[in-house]
Amino acid sequence: MNTSSALKQPRRVERLVTGQPTTDGAGVKLTRVLTQDLQQRLDPFLMLDNFASDDPKDYGAGFPNHPHRGFETVTYMIDGRMRHRDSAGHEGLLQSGGVQWMTAGRGLVHSEMPEQEAGRMEGFQLWLNLPGRDKMCPPWYRDIQSTEIPQFTTDEGVFGRVIAGHSHGVTGAVQREHTDPLYLDLHFPPGQAQFRQPLPANHNAFLYVYRGQVDVLDALGNPTAVPLHCMALLGNEGDGVVLRPSARSTAPARALLIAGKPLREPIAQYGPFVMNTREQLVEAVEDFQNGRLG
Ligand code: CO
Repeated sequence: MNTSSALKQPRRVERLVTGQPTTDGAGVKLTRVLTQDLQQRLDPFLMLDNFASDDPKDYGAGFPNHPHRGFETVTYMIDGRMRHRDSAGHEGLLQSGGVQWMTAGRGLVHSEMPEQEAGRMEGFQLWLNLPGRDKMCPPWYRDIQSTEIPQFTTDEGVFGRVIAGHSHGVTGAVQREHTDPLYLDLHFPPGQAQFRQPLPANHNAFLYVYRGQVDVLDALGNPTAVPLHCMALLGNEGDGVVLRPSARSTAPARALLIAGKPLREPIAQYGPFVMNTREQLVEAVEDFQNGRLG
């Protein structure tokens, strides 16, 4: 028997969240989906940004040199090309369907700049926290090309890309011991195909819909609709989640399903630095100002 079809008590939607329009970097327009006030509830995740525009004026300025310390950034490109360079001498080109997984650790300075002057730029940046004991680890990063991301198609025709974690017998591109993240990009076929994903009860989880509309189904099959560009926080009661495109979805639905094991440590953030205490933040700022981040 396929264990993923044996969910007894699917999780329900605890809350729907509409992202906040904002700008970051040198003026890139984006939607901040996971905001600072949700960091405790969605521990170990600190932020999720969605950028999506056909207009180079919205993205052309990019993200010139800036520092990070104390967490990981996971950039997933749906459409477009972005070049990154960092103070450790690493450089890479992130292209449609690819992922850059960067562990900032004790810190680096990097830039993330569009390598296109026209066309569509669409993607996501997720911030994943590090446990206190790893916050000062050496920086690390990996460019994962689109073809290197493990994929599956369910019997019902749902296509999944496994950026992190495990799903439907497929091991994702990246695994992390302490936060055990699951990061799926799900593409639903036209129609009403269901998708089931077991989730450990103590892992915090959310869904973000970026095409069409998706229903979260309860044990009786009752739907809660998650509209386009909305995030659904999933309650922790239950053994997994059951998803299905909404009948009124006008486009083939696509969504990110993200879950992870909470660190349950104090979170202290000052801009691009996320540590456990205020003293560590002061140290991070001083290290940056004195050129010790690279
Ligand atoms: Co950055």
